[in-house]
Formats: sequence, structure tokens, C-alpha cells
Amino acid sequence: MDYKFEIAKIIGHVSGLDTADIMSAIEIPPNPNMGDYAFPCFKLAKAFRKAPAQIAQELSEKITKPAFINHIECAGPYLNFFTEKAYYAQSVLSKVLCDPKAYGESNIGEGKNIVIDYSSPNIAKPFHVGHLRSTVIGNAIYNIYTKLGYKCYGINHLGDWGTQFGKLIVAYKNWGSEQAVIENGITELMRIYVLFHDEAKKNPSLDDEARSWFVKMQENDEEAIRLWKWFYDISIKEFDRVYDMLGVKFDAYTGESFYNDKMDAIIEELKEKNLLQESEGAMIVDLSDEDMPPCLILRKDGGTLYATRDITAAIYRKNTYNFDKAIYVTALDQNLHFKQWFKVIEKMGNDWAKDLVHVPFGLVSLENGKLSTRSGNVVLMEDLLNQAINETKKIIESKNPDLPNKELVAKQVGIGAVIFNDLYNTRIKDVLFSWEKMLNFEGETGPYVQYTHARACSLLRKYEDLNYDIEYEHLTDSASVEVLKLIEEYPNKIEDAAQKFEPSVISRYLVNLSQAFNKFYHDNPILTSEDNVKNSRMALVLAVKSILSSGLSLLGIDSPEQM
Ligand code: ARG
Repeated sequence: MDYKFEIAKIIGHVSGLDTADIMSAIEIPPNPNMGDYAFPCFKLAKAFRKAPAQIAQELSEKITKPAFINHIECAGPYLNFFTEKAYYAQSVLSKVLCDPKAYGESNIGEGKNIVIDYSSPNIAKPFHVGHLRSTVIGNAIYNIYTKLGYKCYGINHLGDWGTQFGKLIVAYKNWGSEQAVIENGITELMRIYVLFHDEAKKNPSLDDEARSWFVKMQENDEEAIRLWKWFYDISIKEFDRVYDMLGVKFDAYTGESFYNDKMDAIIEELKEKNLLQESEGAMIVDLSDEDMPPCLILRKDGGTLYATRDITAAIYRKNTYNFDKAIYVTALDQNLHFKQWFKVIEKMGNDWAKDLVHVPFGLVSLENGKLSTRSGNVVLMEDLLNQAINETKKIIESKNPDLPNKELVAKQVGIGAVIFNDLYNTRIKDVLFSWEKMLNFEGETGPYVQYTHARACSLLRKYEDLNYDIEYEHLTDSASVEVLKLIEEYPNKIEDAAQKFEPSVISRYLVNLSQAFNKFYHDNPILTSEDNVKNSRMALVLAVKSILSSGLSLLGIDSPEQM
């Protein structure tokens, strides 16, 4: 039952005002003494030619109180509605308890496809913390949309093509060894790649060699492709290790190379539509009418570019998945790139250009010196996750050394802490990695939410003979009502997070729910109370437990039952 809507209908009935207008005017007072819903009458003064307080008074006299309202009060210009708390508790809890796992699901996405492009690291380069953000934000958006009934397709648009692979081949032939690459994987590839750049400064002919190897790759030369594929396989194996740790999956690993044989047709189409122009030997789409620099389609040497592949990929995805939205999760510094090629898609006459969404995010910065690095300045994801697990192990050893499944829990909590930390602020804000902050069991953190969940689980374990004979009047105290209000909001929060492409709506909500639950638990003794009271309070515990674990899973975080 939508209380706000029901109240709006009642006010509409006695005032003759439009229900939608009333809906947008109704407020949720900051303080429960002022009611659960308040209708301010200021704006009516003009139309009714009366003082707001008088209008409030008259409206209140006309209203026949429905069962879900306990009483209505006039407070100056406000009409305050106090809901019947037991009735409220029942309406909220019954919705969760009938099928706790399904609570928050919806069918608004039914029959609609969403394509999400996230993570998308570059082959032969380390998976660093910068890619973490794209991975976890994209994964959360995937889960959130799935919960709302959309069919999601997760795509890893790997950076697996380009002149850099020509350089890598030259580097490997000059300074690499099979043995070292097998032993050290991406770290070794990175080492020889850096070496190439140093050497090429002294000896520019290396660049020509690299270019000709890339041409060979494009011509499907046996040796060039064999080496490239080898580098590719090594990289994917390392990436998959990180994805496994994070619990992230993709529906397709269609990287940039996937579009090699598909770009010609698109370039043809751009030509036919008179969108391609020559500029200093290169081919571009002019965007000066949009106040943007031109979008580069073909290099002077005929090579394609990042944007060429993105344009081709978008058209391929539209044809393959017939998406309702195609979402791209990348760092903010790629803003212009996306704006440019989205425009090109539009200029090509595709009305679905409006369904392309760039979801940008801020930078990651690290607390100095607290993180061990293996290769120079880049912080490898795998090292960071392992460190998170180790730090968590230390905490578990000191707080709860007898915990069963310590290894598994340390992994769930350590990695959960990293993910939660990344998703806690609005995504456009920069993220700071601070072990102390992120692993604080009492802060606004993943471990705090997980701990609250585990605490609820432990109550449920102690009280297994829970029956559902709930007496709702035991859930009308202010701490219980606070929790109920948050429970009621969960489905809206999921929709809000989806609409804004903003997982932090969920993470913030989970912290609020945990705080409200801990206050409830503190104010209302459970195990020592009378059976009927206990029963009723445990129903609330069960509801909160399932929402915490559901919300954490939307963020891609596990919820251990003990920690
Ligand atoms: N590989 C790119 C990078 O690491 C990200 C690719 C994002 N996706 C896309 N369709 N452009 O910066």
C-alpha cells in the first residue's frame, strides 16, 4: 500500500485538488512528533483566498479518517497525518515475509534488454585499481537492472587491438624470453613494453618495425597472430583470476579486435552518408556544429581508432541485443570521447543514439606507502585484494579467533570492504583507499553492514522456532517504526539507483538500515522478552536480514552468516 498516494487521494477528495500535485507537495517530516506524512497548505492560500492555517483546519474537519490513519493533527499551516502503526507494520512486513528473497524485485524491465560495457582492461597491461571502479560499478548496475526484470548483457570490451601490440612483438623478439613470460605473465610483458619505449627514444627505427608488425597482425600473418593470441591468453588468465576474486562475470568478451572485420562496412556507411571528411590526411567526422573537436575515424596510414571500434561495436550491439539502453562505465576523462561518437551515431540517422549512456566515475587515490606494489607505480588489483584479505584475517584473529571458516569469511569481508568502499560515494567523486577506514567494523563500511547481517543471523539461529504469529502492536515503538520505514523504501531505492546509474544509493541505504536496525536491537531486548513480543521482533529481524543480504548482493558483495 502506498501511504502517500492514499493520503493524496483523501486530500484530493475533500479539496478538489489534483492528486499528482498533492503527491509532490506531501512531505515526510524530519521528526515523528510531526506525523509520518505532512501536507503543507501554503501554496493553496492564493487559490482558496484564506490563510494556510485556516485551510489546514477546514480540510482536517472534512476528512473521514481511514483505518490506516490513527489521527490527523493541524499544526499551523501543516496537516499532519499519523499512521496507525500496527497497521503500517503489518502492511510493510507482510510484503517482505511472503517471499523475502523476491522483495524489491519488479517487472518494470520486462522484455527490455540492457547492454553494459564495463571493466574492459587492456591486454598485456596490468589490471590496476583504476579498472576496479569500472568493474564494480558496472557489475552493480548489472545486478540492479536484473533485479528490476531487465535482461542484462555484460560486455568486456577488452583493449586487445592496436599498434601497441606491434611494439610488444618487437620488444618480445628483442628482449623477451618464453620462459620469463610464462613465469611472470603480464608483469614481464609490461617490463619489455616499457623497455621498448626507452629504446625507441634512442632508436626510432624500432617504431617502424612495430608498425610493420601491426600491419602483419592486420593481414592475419601467422606468426604475428600467434604471438598476439599468446599475449591475449596470458592476460585473460590473469584478468579472470581477479574477476573470480571479485565474483564478477561477463556475458561476452568481445574486445576491440572483435570488430576488425566489421569496421569496413561502417566506414562505407559513413562515406555514403557524406559524414566522412579528409583532414590532414586522416578521415574525420566534423563536429564543429556541436562545438566539439572532430571524431577521428581513420588515421593517416589507414589504421582505425578507438572511436571507430566504439561506433562499430554500438551498431553491432544494437543489431545483436536490440538494447533499450547501452551503458558505458569508464573514467570521467573519457567524457569527450563518448560525447563525440554518440553524436556520430546520431548523425548517421540512428534514433537510438539517445539510448547510449556514458556512466563516468572519479579517480582512485591511495594512501601513500601503505600498499606494497610489485611493478613500479601501478597498484595491481590482485595485490590489493590479497592485502585486503590479509588485513581482514588479522582483524578476525584478534576479534574472533574461533570463527569457523575463517579463510572464506576473510575473503568475503576483505573483498566486500574494497567493493563497498568503491561504491559508497557518488560515483563521480574520487575514491580514497584507506585500509583503516574501509575495514572499520563500526564505520560506514561494508564490514559494518556485513556484521549487522551476521548479528541478525545469529539471533535467528538462537531462535529457530520462530513462528509467524506476529502481533504488530509490538512493532509500533519509534525504533521499530524507523526500521519499518526503511524496509518500505527498499524497492524505491533500487529503482532510484537504476535510474541514476548510481550504486551508492544502495550502499548508503544499507548503512542507514544497519544503523536503524542496531538502534532497534539496542532499544528492544529480544531474547529476554515475552514470547509474543519476541516473535514479532524476530519477524523484523528476519526482514532486515534478508534485505541486507539482498542489497549487498546487488553491490556484488557476499553476506557471511557468521563473522
Ligand atoms: N580499454 C579502455 C580503457 O582501459 C576502456 C574501454 C571502455 N569501453 C568502451 N567501449 N570504450 O581505458
